[in-house]
Amino acid sequence: MIRKRPVVAIDGPAGSGKSSVAREVARRLGFTLLDTGALYRCVALKAERETLTLEQSALLGELAASMDVRFEQGGIGKGVWLDDEEVTEAIRAPSISQLASRVSALPEVRHALLDTQRKLGLDGGVVLEGRDIGTVVFPDAEVKVFLEAPDRVRAQRRFDELTSKGIKADLEQVLSDVRARDKRDAERDIAPLVAAEDAVVVDTGELGLNEVVAAVLRVVEEKTGK
Ligand code: DC
Repeated sequence: MIRKRPVVAIDGPAGSGKSSVAREVARRLGFTLLDTGALYRCVALKAERETLTLEQSALLGELAASMDVRFEQGGIGKGVWLDDEEVTEAIRAPSISQLASRVSALPEVRHALLDTQRKLGLDGGVVLEGRDIGTVVFPDAEVKVFLEAPDRVRAQRRFDELTSKGIKADLEQVLSDVRARDKRDAERDIAPLVAAEDAVVVDTGELGLNEVVAAVLRVVEEKTGK
């Protein structure tokens, strides 16, 4: 399919810098941003509130298909609303991170969210950040980047993020959470976390935000001539 403006897929594990990088890349390009992880997190939050268990996968799929998620300023702002309630902070709680990773392994949930994601990106001019954008959601994305970094570096970033928000955290616990989530995300049967064959892999371990953003913008330029 020929789009006037490209789909930019930014995938990678927790703490690889995806969110900050994707937000800045979208801002610089004037594109909409879709934080696809937030969709899985909203499913997890609703599931927790409605005390659904992972065995109730059909209900979880329905919940994913029917929920109404909105993002501030086309996703560039940090605000997230779920069925008209602001959930920006609630969906970042460590327990929701783990539950999001669990519900995201359910085919019913992934299937429901696939439609949401594809509709949003169809016409291009969008940056999608997640785990399976370049492999499953938009295998025809014009630009595919996979960000990675050593797990200790990623855990430290998560730890800093939590403590900066005043959330008490323990670095070793964060590291073991990161590892558990990586393992689950990478080993699941459906849409596992893996770089697309045609993705440009960037190790962000030793790079600052601006350097990673510059690297991604170079890929956009190379792939689209803009
Ligand atoms: O990017 P994040 O940490 O907000 O994602 C939360 C969880 O959602 C993550 O553990 C795996 C899942 N996820 C996914 O399976 N596919 C995506 N495209 C995005 C997130």
